[in-house]
Amino acid sequence: MSNEKHGLARGLTNYGDIDFSLYLRRTFASAAGYSREMMDKPVIGIAQAPSGFNPCHRNFPELVEAIKRGVLAAGGLPLDFPTISLGEAFLNPTSMKFRNLLSIDIEEMITAQPMDAVVMLGGCDKNVPGMLMGAASADVPAIQLVPGPMLPMPFEGERLGACTDCRRFWGRYRGGEVSEQKIKIIEGKLATTAGTCAVMGTASTMAAVAEALGMSLPGTAAIPAVHADRIRAAEASGRRAVELALQPIRPSQIITEKSVENALRVLLAISGSTNAIIHLTAIAGRLGIHVSLRKLNELSDTTPVLVNLKPTGEHYMADLHAAGGLGAVMREIKHLLHLDCLTITGQTLGERLEAESPWVDRSVVRAFDDPIDPVGGLISLFGSLAPNGAILKRAAANPALFERTGRAVVFESLQDLADRIDSPDLDVNPEDFLVLKNAGPKSGAGMPEAGYLPIPAKLARQGIRDMVRISDARMSGTAFGTVVLHVSPEAAVGGPLALVRNGDQISLSVKNRRLDLLVDEAQLELRRAELAPPAELPDRGYNRLFLQSTLQADEGCDFDFLRPSRMGNRHSC
Ligand code: FES
Ligand code: MG
Repeated sequence: MSNEKHGLARGLTNYGDIDFSLYLRRTFASAAGYSREMMDKPVIGIAQAPSGFNPCHRNFPELVEAIKRGVLAAGGLPLDFPTISLGEAFLNPTSMKFRNLLSIDIEEMITAQPMDAVVMLGGCDKNVPGMLMGAASADVPAIQLVPGPMLPMPFEGERLGACTDCRRFWGRYRGGEVSEQKIKIIEGKLATTAGTCAVMGTASTMAAVAEALGMSLPGTAAIPAVHADRIRAAEASGRRAVELALQPIRPSQIITEKSVENALRVLLAISGSTNAIIHLTAIAGRLGIHVSLRKLNELSDTTPVLVNLKPTGEHYMADLHAAGGLGAVMREIKHLLHLDCLTITGQTLGERLEAESPWVDRSVVRAFDDPIDPVGGLISLFGSLAPNGAILKRAAANPALFERTGRAVVFESLQDLADRIDSPDLDVNPEDFLVLKNAGPKSGAGMPEAGYLPIPAKLARQGIRDMVRISDARMSGTAFGTVVLHVSPEAAVGGPLALVRNGDQISLSVKNRRLDLLVDEAQLELRRAELAPPAELPDRGYNRLFLQSTLQADEGCDFDFLRPSRMGNRHSC
């Protein structure tokens, strides 16, 4: 017997006697009730992340059944196994802290267990990047399947869907426009079906990124969770996985500099989540591909926003599916994409787009020469406050605030923010810049989605809905506002953000892609000398590993030891 074998005979190294190892493996497979005939088939792993703490994944039982049906029909043996499940709303301090842990789980389990290919089923924000990172490192043939978005539901003459509408109503409640009684009713109307958030939040963006990279079957990113097409997509993914087992295409053949650039183009055209920049950087980083924030600006200047979805537009993911899906978007920017990229189907991206129906609903996906915005939804900013970059989702921001110098109103930590933001004594005006420190990757807070700082209550009551906000935190993909995020290096490692004090002047120029702290160097030097030394590492456990190993936002917040050593002479995208 050889380690080159497929199916259950794959990777037998234990006991120093390969035949005995296979004999034992078959003995235990017999305990599962498989016939010898089934044991000789290619094995397709189904990595699935179900959890009572993850309602976005509640349609997994029917999807797993359909994947298995597809695998069996194509002559494979489907074996599902659980992975860590990251339910966005339930993880403390933030799901971001566990994305890399999930990636380790995926990499190790699809490497250690005998499978020829794997279908990875996950969807809520961090599950898709965690799975793609793990698959990229394992380099086992893999297909990403997502659970699909929730349906928006009618409510009092409009449609509601998590979670842009959650924030809209909460902002109005804080401003005194929505009553306590009404906000309780709305709470039960925002997320009413299985599936991931209904708008172009991080989950939907990452589903789109997976499809744009070529790691998901064509047309599957936007199919609603409750649509029968979603079940058929699962069956098709199972079938395709068997073909991949017989004629492998590996993640390293699909995730390349060119396909990463395609994914960035798509991210800009759909006006996707800021989080996707971090995730795509981390996924690409696993294969030695560097995502440059300066390159992002070049791409952003030449990629229009075409998709009219919340949080920046009007519609929901279900509408994008009905309008032609991601294929319709990619056809519009076809001349900007690398069409020779290989996809998981074995076709190139160009062949895929050629084969699709040209129908498109223009109220959801605009034509290239009639865009919603002629430039991309995301840009990076550089300057003395963010030497290694920061991100602004300009499509979700207020252009009236783009060229401004403002007085800093500083919050030292999340706790400080919670303690003082609504204080009647807070010295703050609408034209000030709210600054939050110590919420970055190494802050101990795990880089939560706290960058969408609430408007101070006393200003919210005056009808102020947006202000310039700056932090080293992230922002939910469903949020909106003039919010500068991912400032790098972060405050906790002594980045310039740590030096900002109340009353300092900060200059923002979206036109020039600049973010500068207008304080002279001598003064900054004095402040630097007064900075508290970095906090000691925790004694043990995952907290220690995380704080020791996590990289800055511009490097994708991956763990340094998970990237290949060839990152030293990396390719650039
Ligand atoms: Fe799961 Fe938004 S909470 S996708
Ligand atoms: Mg989210």
